[in-house]
Amino acid sequence: MRRKLIAGNWKMNQTKKDGLALAKGVFEAVAAQKGDFDVLVCPPMSLLGLIADLPHDGVALGSQDVSVAPKDFGAYTGDVSAAQVLDLGASYAIVGHSERRAMRYETDLVVREKAVNAISKGLIPVICVGETLEERESGQALSVVCRQVRESVPSTSTGENTVIAYEPVWAIGTGKVPSLADVEEMHTAIRAEVAALLGQEVADNMRLLYGGSVKPSNAHELLNAQNVDGALIGGASLKVEDFWGIIQTQL
Ligand code: 13P
Repeated sequence: MRRKLIAGNWKMNQTKKDGLALAKGVFEAVAAQKGDFDVLVCPPMSLLGLIADLPHDGVALGSQDVSVAPKDFGAYTGDVSAAQVLDLGASYAIVGHSERRAMRYETDLVVREKAVNAISKGLIPVICVGETLEERESGQALSVVCRQVRESVPSTSTGENTVIAYEPVWAIGTGKVPSLADVEEMHTAIRAEVAALLGQEVADNMRLLYGGSVKPSNAHELLNAQNVDGALIGGASLKVEDFWGIIQTQL
């Protein structure tokens, strides 16, 4: 049985003061009413350690990236290693978000190396995949996303140590959401790709999240779609009431 995962990606948002208040609000809401699902908060690296020092029973923490360098420490200015992320108190790391693939030119190989580093330290990578609008409109969505899965998911991935997030680029921050049929078609294809890559048992146990304009009003439907095991939430994770509103749909 795959346990649902509801994850917030704060992206490059929040000052120290506002971020701590947001985290506290989420932690208190979750502690007051726990459900049969996992909650994950991924603040910017600048706040991860501070937030991890707050009591956060029932909420896992993650980074939004991890260094591609296969080292715990070294001369990699600006990078933060998987070992350092773990040391801050995180248990997950988002890798290969489309904003990094597009704006930081991260290739499938780079994403895979980051996922390898995360797994080797015991962090669960949330490997992001997703097609652009142009790719969807030209009928390439399935082939693009399946290629990303094939090339970005490492051979060390298991159903327990890896999560995949399907985030159509055109749905991120736009208020646009694919039809339920399109989400289910894609998630079914991703699971089949994982099965071909790593075996049916791994595929059956791996959680596949949907991300892109998830809100309290559409969360119930999206989170109950076939082969959808949770959500990766951007904008709506920045307000306690919105993030909690999404979590509540699973109570
Ligand atoms: P939005 O929820 O703001 O569309 O962002 C989704 C996302 O990119 C999460 O990683």
